[in-house]
Amino acid sequence: MAKVIAFGIQKGGVGKTTTTAITAWLLAKTYKVLAIDFDSQGNLTAMLTMKNIYDFENKTALEMMKEKDPRPYIYEVSENLHVIPANDFLAQLPLYLHRQYKGNPYIVLKEALEVVQDQYDFILIDCPPNLGDHTVNACCAADYAVALLQSEPFCLDALERYLEFLSEAVKAKVNPNLQLAGVLTTMVDSRAALDASIIDVAKEDYEDLVFGVTIKRRTRIKEFSTNGISDRTKQDQEALEQYNMFVQELLDRVKG
Ligand SMILES: Nc1ncnc2c1ncn2[C@@H]1O[C@H](COP(=O)(O)OP(=O)(O)OP(=O)(O)O)[C@@H](O)[C@H]1O
Ligand SMILES: [Mg+2]
Repeated sequence: MAKVIAFGIQKGGVGKTTTTAITAWLLAKTYKVLAIDFDSQGNLTAMLTMKNIYDFENKTALEMMKEKDPRPYIYEVSENLHVIPANDFLAQLPLYLHRQYKGNPYIVLKEALEVVQDQYDFILIDCPPNLGDHTVNACCAADYAVALLQSEPFCLDALERYLEFLSEAVKAKVNPNLQLAGVLTTMVDSRAALDASIIDVAKEDYEDLVFGVTIKRRTRIKEFSTNGISDRTKQDQEALEQYNMFVQELLDRVKG
């Protein structure tokens, strides 16, 4: 049965999509992976498929939610890496959940994923930068949550609130099985003292919950969003090095 991992935080532009995409890509070297784009910006779709998000008209996570069946909407990037795409219309999901859907609107994704859960080792979900219905559904479907912390002052406040959301809105009310896999620090500028001090504060506050590896800011990682993820060149491999370490830590934390 696939382990379901949701990558989220309500703060925008902190590396959620980049982390979900690279983690899915690296895990797919060994495991069978389904990556779900649950953000109507469609960035994960673009990054993993290298296609225009509007090529997936009516073949997105929105339709998957309405039918509670991912199978017709799976795009195969490779044998081991499958994607459920998103485009801007995925933002309409709350209209459907609260006006037409008759059951519990927060467990629709969970129920949809149950259809394919025995076909994958990992299902990764890229959440949007808010705590609305998409994120609630993602966290209710998840076995594990990974919270992203960019080394920016506002992010620490967002992290505290995100962890409160996970425990009080998700775990206590809908998904008691949810576990926090950890907090991953991203886009760290190794020359900036402020970045280092933010990571120190996070490690003091959240101790072992913070992954040992930090993801540094690198131009090559940014280029992966437009050119696709690759490990062909030495520069690519160096850019992936910290993400490889993250994947190892993540596997250790979600084993068993
Ligand atoms: N380690 C990194 N080094 C350099 N650039 C990065 C790194 N990680 C992400 N980026 C860039 O930062 C921008 C934001 O990253 P990303 O889209 O992954 O964040 P996000 O949290 O998913 O954003 P949103 O909240 O809008 O969904 C992108 O342009 C991405 O290419
Ligand atoms: Mg994103």
